Amino acid sequence: METITILQNKRIILGVTGSIAVYKAIDLASKLTQAGALVDVIMTAAAEQFVTPLSFQAVTGRPVYTSMWATGGSGLPTHIAHVGLGEGADLLVIAPATANTLAKLAHGLADDLLSVTALAARCPLVIAPAMDGGMYIHPATQANLNTLQERGAWLVEPEEGRFASGLVGKGRLPETPTLIGQIRRTLGRHGILAGRRVVITAGGTHEAIDPVRYITNRSSGKQGYALAQAALDAGASVTLVSTVHELPVPVGAELIAVDSAARMLEAVLAHSEGADALVMAAAVADFRPATVAEQKIKKQDDTAGLRLELERTADILLSVKEKRKKTGWPQVVVGFAAESENLLANARAKLERKGLDLLVANDITAADAGFSVDTNRVTILSADGGQEPLALSSKARVSEIILKRVAGLL
Ligand code: CTP
Repeated sequence: METITILQNKRIILGVTGSIAVYKAIDLASKLTQAGALVDVIMTAAAEQFVTPLSFQAVTGRPVYTSMWATGGSGLPTHIAHVGLGEGADLLVIAPATANTLAKLAHGLADDLLSVTALAARCPLVIAPAMDGGMYIHPATQANLNTLQERGAWLVEPEEGRFASGLVGKGRLPETPTLIGQIRRTLGRHGILAGRRVVITAGGTHEAIDPVRYITNRSSGKQGYALAQAALDAGASVTLVSTVHELPVPVGAELIAVDSAARMLEAVLAHSEGADALVMAAAVADFRPATVAEQKIKKQDDTAGLRLELERTADILLSVKEKRKKTGWPQVVVGFAAESENLLANARAKLERKGLDLLVANDITAADAGFSVDTNRVTILSADGGQEPLALSSKARVSEIILKRVAGLL
């Protein structure tokens, strides 16, 4: 797994309490560590009934803290030695958080190392409750959660589903990607795009031929989704206008699902109203069938071939350019150019014609760049004549750099 910039070298305390969902916390600790975070795990006595500290130590490579009274190398009780644990941390995550731990936190009790640390810590708190039966929706639990949220805690809502008991209800700990998504949002809250609204488009459009067929292109949406995640990491609120169904939506992004170029145009115009930036990473069809057959087109014995007549679609960026002249929004507009020849000259002409602030040009003839792969090799052109070639990088890294340039223009 590639390191994740927003997690790299972040000191995260992971509080683990007594729930059958602790096995998911091992995966969380492992993925956070692989992403570059320094994860210090504190287990409650109840958590130790489910798994041993060794499981966490094995995946984090760091000591695991369990008791307030054990002495560290210094001879000091752990709760004194590790007030520093809470003080220096970037984030305290409690996952899974039981009803009992939530109650203790809400009332400021401090009778074990985790609750002491929660009181001593000055960093943000992310809580991911997990509990069986009706415990989550019980008014006592809800009141405690409200108290914690009013104090600034970030809640990862539990999911509905089947519990270990066989009962069905709300209270299941979400999977690791959801937990990490919320952790990223919290860590990114003061990032370079904090308070900004960014609209990002992703994927290739689908232009219907008949009720079952469409014309599309090779865009996977990966670059657009990476941009959405990078914008969230930078603290932006993100609207993702997407044709893609196969990729997980980054936690915190508002998804606007579209199919055709016409729908994407509508969505972009509606959602970029008042937006700070628009990044058009989508591969929008330039042509669509001139008529959409109402019924499925049948192959008929007498038809030697089928002719499709195509017509032009509207250019979304040109429409945005017109709107921007009148309204001033979005403040910054970024386009992409996929070219197979004369990359930089074609890209520069596109930037000017479409009235862009930045244009990200990629050479789709390279095997390690462009469609479907996780890496990209691009040059960022700017309206002031700038030309910045980036080394081959992951789509995540490319996205971070693009958004840095966007933040610089805002
Ligand atoms: N784009 C758009 N509306 C379209 C087609 C493209 O807004 N109907 C946007 C893309 O999202 C991208 C940029 O324009 O950000 C450039 O896309 P590209 O397909 O490379 O350019 P075209 O305008 O199609 O130019 P050409 O056909 O000359 O390559």
